[in-house]
Amino acid sequence: MGKRRQQYHLEPDRGLLNDPNGLSYYNGRYYVFFQWNRFAKDHSHKEWGLFTSSDLLNWRLEGSALLPDQTYDSCGVYSGSAYVIEDKLYLFYTGNVKKDGERRSRQCIAVTEDGRTFLKLGCAVETPDEYTEHFRDPKVLKTRENGYYMVIGAQRLCGKGALAFCHSSDGRNWEYRGMPAVSEDYEMIECPDLFKLDGRYLLIYNPQSRDNGKDIPLMSFTAVKFIEFDEQSGTFSDSDLDHGFSRMDYGFDFYAPQTFTDDQGRRILYAWMSRMDEREETAFAEGEPNIHCLTLPRELKIIDGKLYQMPVSELDKLKTTCPAVARTGKSTAVIRPEQRTYCIHISHIDSYRTLSMWFNEGEASLEWLVGESVLRFGRRSWVTGQTEFRECSVQEFREAEIWCDCSSIEIFINNGEKVISSRIEPEAEYPSVVIEGLNGTEEILAHDITPATDKTGPAETLL
Ligand code: FRU
Repeated sequence: MGKRRQQYHLEPDRGLLNDPNGLSYYNGRYYVFFQWNRFAKDHSHKEWGLFTSSDLLNWRLEGSALLPDQTYDSCGVYSGSAYVIEDKLYLFYTGNVKKDGERRSRQCIAVTEDGRTFLKLGCAVETPDEYTEHFRDPKVLKTRENGYYMVIGAQRLCGKGALAFCHSSDGRNWEYRGMPAVSEDYEMIECPDLFKLDGRYLLIYNPQSRDNGKDIPLMSFTAVKFIEFDEQSGTFSDSDLDHGFSRMDYGFDFYAPQTFTDDQGRRILYAWMSRMDEREETAFAEGEPNIHCLTLPRELKIIDGKLYQMPVSELDKLKTTCPAVARTGKSTAVIRPEQRTYCIHISHIDSYRTLSMWFNEGEASLEWLVGESVLRFGRRSWVTGQTEFRECSVQEFREAEIWCDCSSIEIFINNGEKVISSRIEPEAEYPSVVIEGLNGTEEILAHDITPATDKTGPAETLL
């Protein structure tokens, strides 16, 4: 077992995982499909793998659900979504074909009634004339007033990014409805998501800079914004993807999130916890059976008109023993969790003082720079050995909930107002958290996390 293998995050037993796909709640179970190369720790093969769970805590790796085995998806079953229609779970994905360097993308449909056997129904949408074949990642939503929409990530013929819309009255027969939004700054938009939360529409999308000549990605991140979406006409109030957005996460490793609603009506998000470049990926995979995992499931909420993200409440059940919080001197606290899996909650922070937190002897750090109203997150790079930083602005730093797994850290600031997610290199012999700059009013709670998940066994074979 590799030292970077996670204990309570979703990752397969072998190969490479990337985007979460087809997130859904169906017949009493949570379905988390994912982009999977089960043969190697690289991107040379893309199929949909599947985890299922009845409680978001105990997961089963079911194995492969959709393979690249048709003429229209032979070079990859790319990302997509799911929707329950008339008691069946429909899967919408991009069939990718590359022949003699020429790419072809088609939006395809598959269906299941038992959650174990998947029947491919073929192509539903061909790429309309105004786009290149960088046309993928269909996300389906149902509207109250006007049937189903499919929002697709796209590149226009001019080489710049866009979103595309298709419409369907039954969820199975689709027609192209136009281009609701465009980017002039980015060459591609990947993995869009559009949904209504507390009466307002939110658009999540992943702008990507590309070298169109070489056809390679250069840089990408996840954006989110509120929009007004006219369900009848399928248009947005704001068609500009380059402005007015916030970052969905401020860490190093967060990409291609997707959301769904469960039986309790919660809007839950998972993302791929990686934005590693090739060097980072190769080094992180060394000595491991697999590479990459998903983030913790987060519940999205709107509070006072702002988006908040917090781990789903089920995760609290994983909190077990409480390691002591030792105050050494007036302004320092030291916590020594039993394992590398732990959760720290600090509240009542005095926002007018500088505060620093050091995780596992500097594998990661968080500093509140009062004068600048900036939280600076650091992690030690496993490629260069140097600490690299990311920053995130907040008006006040009042509280933080920090979830560590063997090789990751997710920091939820001010009850989920901002989030910082990153993979970290496990180096310290013993885990520890050191907090400096306390004024004594803070409340600090620490918990060891005992995973419920038994996902280390080999995948069952669905196909
Ligand atoms: C995002 C992405 C998607 C694509 C998939 C392929 O990470 O590039 O656009 O469908 O990964 O694995």
